[in-house]
Amino acid sequence: MLKIAVLVSGGGTNLEAILEAVDNGTITNARVETVISNNPNAYALERAAKRGIAHLCISPKDFFSRDLFHQALLEQLRACAPDLIVLAGYLVVIPPEVIAEYKNRMINIHPSLIPAFCGKGYYGLKVHEGVLARGVKVTGATVHFVDEGTDTGPIILQRAVAVEEGDTPEILQRRVMEQAEWKILPEAIDLIANGRVRIENGRTRIG
Ligand code: GRF
Repeated sequence: MLKIAVLVSGGGTNLEAILEAVDNGTITNARVETVISNNPNAYALERAAKRGIAHLCISPKDFFSRDLFHQALLEQLRACAPDLIVLAGYLVVIPPEVIAEYKNRMINIHPSLIPAFCGKGYYGLKVHEGVLARGVKVTGATVHFVDEGTDTGPIILQRAVAVEEGDTPEILQRRVMEQAEWKILPEAIDLIANGRVRIENGRTRIG
């Protein structure tokens, strides 16, 4: 049984998709044991509470230094000892010590087809603003392993989504979430939970 910790910062719709997938059997051999947010007002924490899942806020604002925050996050993760960490809309830079300790055991959902519209400054609505400003006709979402870079780890799954006439960033974000994020994040977790994802030469193989 894969023990999962989900890190969130906002509404938690990706967390909800994961929890629903565990409930309806789309995800097998896994369970979400902990939800951690940097934002005490994140509705994602409410979603965890409603389902009786352990949840807590560890905010950088509560610590005198970024290093003390990093230490507190690492200690909390060691306490719940997840097999897999899922970043689901988590907006805080992951400390290098956490990345090292969870190499190939931490994944992220990004709302574009990496390597397009990713990296520093591309998060949330800013991704979709960039897509519309560039005028691309297809966007989508990517699930990838987290490494030392920003959105640079080995790609696990991607799904394309059409950009339509009249799209606003909000309309496009919603379509990418509904048609891509909420599908491929649970699918990636199920593949990992059932031992079907390997990494060879920095690229993933799905068996
Ligand atoms: C959304 O912009 C989503 O595309 C990205 O994180 C943000 C918050 O998602 N992955 P959520 O509703 O908190 O899961």
